[in-house]
Parts: sequence; structure tokens; C-alpha cells
Amino acid sequence: TSNEMWGGRFASGPDAIMEEINASIDFDKRLYEEDIAGSKAHATMLADTGVITAEDRDSIIAGLDTIRGEIAAGNFTFSRQREDIHMNIEARLAELIGPAAGRLHTARSRNDQVALDFRLHVKSALQRFEAGLQDFIAALLDKAEDHADTVMPGFTHLQVAQPVTYGHHCLAYAEMAARDLSRCRDAIERMDECPLGTAALAGTGFPIDRHQTAKALGFREPTRNSLDTVSDRDFALDFLSFAAICATHLSRLAEEIVIWSTPQFGFVKLSDAFSTGSSIMPQKKNPDAAELVRAKPGRINGALISLLTVMKGLPLTYSKDMQEDKQQVFDAIDSLQLALAASTGMIRDLVVNREAMRAAAGHGFSTATDLADWLVREAGLPFRESHHVTGRAVAMAEDRGIGLADLPLDDLKALNPAVTEGVYSVLTVEASVASRTSYGGTAPDNVRAAIAVWRDKLELN
Ligand code: ARG
Repeated sequence: TSNEMWGGRFASGPDAIMEEINASIDFDKRLYEEDIAGSKAHATMLADTGVITAEDRDSIIAGLDTIRGEIAAGNFTFSRQREDIHMNIEARLAELIGPAAGRLHTARSRNDQVALDFRLHVKSALQRFEAGLQDFIAALLDKAEDHADTVMPGFTHLQVAQPVTYGHHCLAYAEMAARDLSRCRDAIERMDECPLGTAALAGTGFPIDRHQTAKALGFREPTRNSLDTVSDRDFALDFLSFAAICATHLSRLAEEIVIWSTPQFGFVKLSDAFSTGSSIMPQKKNPDAAELVRAKPGRINGALISLLTVMKGLPLTYSKDMQEDKQQVFDAIDSLQLALAASTGMIRDLVVNREAMRAAAGHGFSTATDLADWLVREAGLPFRESHHVTGRAVAMAEDRGIGLADLPLDDLKALNPAVTEGVYSVLTVEASVASRTSYGGTAPDNVRAAIAVWRDKLELN
């Protein structure tokens, strides 16, 4: 049998494989709420502009509400023969209300319909990420406050570099998340235009009111160019770019949790709530959530590359290629949602071992830069020379298996006669972090000031 929607010019129905490759209902049923909201706004506008009668509008809207209830309750039979969510709903509407259902598709096409549904879906996901990122940042700020003066080693090349505070480290992630939040908001702002009413590609001759539907569906305004509108998936690419960068940040945090929770580091302990055990090794507590967060960019970056590749080189306007836009975006939404929620939970629950952090901060001659700076400040050495002198002090301490602060004054004096007793005051990790008061530096007072600034900005007070 030929298709119930366009069977007019067809003598026979599709091959089974044709039906299978063509149908999107298995995944685009996720858009049913958006599809029904769009149809209700469209029917209302059609009646207001005199394109359909008020009576037809009322039966269309009542029918759509029934369908919404059926789908929500799991009582709706999705059919592959009806291809996608748009035609599944419309065909069911015809079963429920008869010929009036056929008037709903006036001045509309599946091309603007799918552009609308998908855009609404991505927009509401981004709005949830906006809230999720604010929670995540709040968790980081709370941790930072608890640990404004907890000293830990700062790393470059994963080698101990200089002492920093854990609060400052948390705030580094708050900065990343705040940029993610700003990317998220930019994306929402840019996509806040309603595609509905651009019809197949050229617009329509019916006297529709696109400003009315745009407003009813919560958009700032309607899109301006019908050809662009039915071809455009930038809004999904914007989402995926934001998601890829955000997931990258979360994966870096997750990797640190994985490393830091090993007995070798012992900087943090994960809560039981965010750990798993081993089926064979009774002593194990594994950071599976952190590892999964670390892995999520695999899927999310894949989704970004996938959609960029689907869209590249497509001539205007709609081509069926564009049906391949949804699955991976849906997967990216779900993946990022979990990654963000798990990261927030892990940060909130994380137990920090201050002693282990402090001890590690003192290893690896982490205050060597402080010694070099002291020689510049107190002995007037050019920095390059003080760097050299300090290097020799480090070599001497390393030879003897002791720390810089354990070198006797006479030995330091032998390296440079200007050294005095006063040098020892800068060689502790606490003195080191307290001295880093330059704007953006790690000193505890800076950390507390930065927390206050962020709370104010994000209205978390
Ligand atoms: N299922 C289609 C999609 O997801 C809907 C749009 C179909 N439009 C068309 N002209 N075939 O892209």
C-alpha cells in the first residue's frame, strides 16, 4: 500500500529496507512534547488569522492534548510506516478527530516543523545546563572556601612546581565552568528565533503571523530567511561545541580526582556514594564515576564531528541527510547531563586530606622559586643569577637527601655571601602561598576575595 500522507502520486509502497533507512520515529519520538506544543501554537495562529475555523482549532487542540496524554502514559503505538514523530502524531490526530486534522498542516511543512521541534529541544536542554553549571560552580566555591588556605603542590608537567592553595585550584575550575556558562547563554541567545511558518523552504502565501507563533513558543522573534531556516543546524552545532568544551573541562577535573584518590597521592577521598567496589578484591574502592566523566568527551566530541560532517557541503535547503542530526545530539545531551551532575556530586562529597597535600607541597624543592626571588629582593641579584645560585642549592640538598630549608646557613652563604638567616622565612610552603598576592595569585586572601566576587556575580549570596 502507498503512503497515507503522500500516496497520491505513488503506485506502490516502500521496500522494507527503504522504510527502515527512512524512518526516524525510533529516536525522534523524544520530540513529541515539542511537536505538540508547536502544532498547538500553529493551529491557534491559523484560527486567529482566519485560515482555519475556531471549531477546527478547538478539535485539533483537544486531539493533540489527548495524544500527549497517550504518549506520556505509554499508550501510544508508534509506527515506522508513519516514518517520524510529525506524521505519527498527525495520523493519530486524523484517527481521533477526522478531516479537521488535515487542516493543521496548512502553511507548514515537516521541514520547518522539525527545525522547530529540534531547536526547542536543544534550547531547553541548554537552559537546564545553565542551571546545572550554576550548581556546579556553587559546589566549587563552597569547596574553595573550606580550603582557602589548604596548601597543596601546584604542578606543571605533573611535576611539583610551586605550592598553591586547594581553594585556588577549585577556583580554576570555577573559571572554566563560568566560561562554559557564558558559552551556554550565548548559544541560547543566538538560537532564540522561531523557525515555524517558513514552510517547506520559500515561505507561504497564507496570511500567517509568525510573530505570534514565535511569541507563543517562547522565542524572541521569528527567523528572517526561510531558506536558511530549514537548512540551518547551527543551533545544534553551537550546543555541541559548548558541550565538547564543557565535557573537556569536566574530564580534566575527573582525571585529577582519579589520580589524587590513589593511595600514592592520597590527596582526596571519594565518598562511598560516588565509588564502586571490586567483585574480587575486597579492599578496592574505585573512582568509576570520575572515570566515566573522564570518558564522556569521547561521545560528545564524536557527536560534534559527526554533525559537522553531516552538514558540510549540503546544498540549500533541506536534504534528508539532516535527519542524521538528532541521535548524537540527544546522546550528547544525556552524557553531559550525567557528567555535570556526577561532577557536582563528587566535588560536594570530596574529603580532602590536608596533611597529605601539605606534605606533598613541601617535596620536590617547591619553594626554590621563593629562594631565587629572595636573592633578587634582599641581595640585589639579577633574577638569572639568583636562578643559577638556587639551582646549585637544590643540587646540594638533593645530594644530601634533604629539603632546601634544611640546608645550613653556612652552605647557603658559600653559594652567595649575601644570604642571611632571613632567607628561611620564605622557604616554608605557607610563606610561599601567602606571598603570592599579585592579582589572580594563589594567596589565601586572594582566594577569599575571588570567591566573594563570583558569588556576587552569580548571585549565590
Ligand atoms: N524526519 C525528518 C527529519 O528528521 C523530518 C523532516 C522531513 N522532511 C522532508 N522533507 N522529508 O529531518
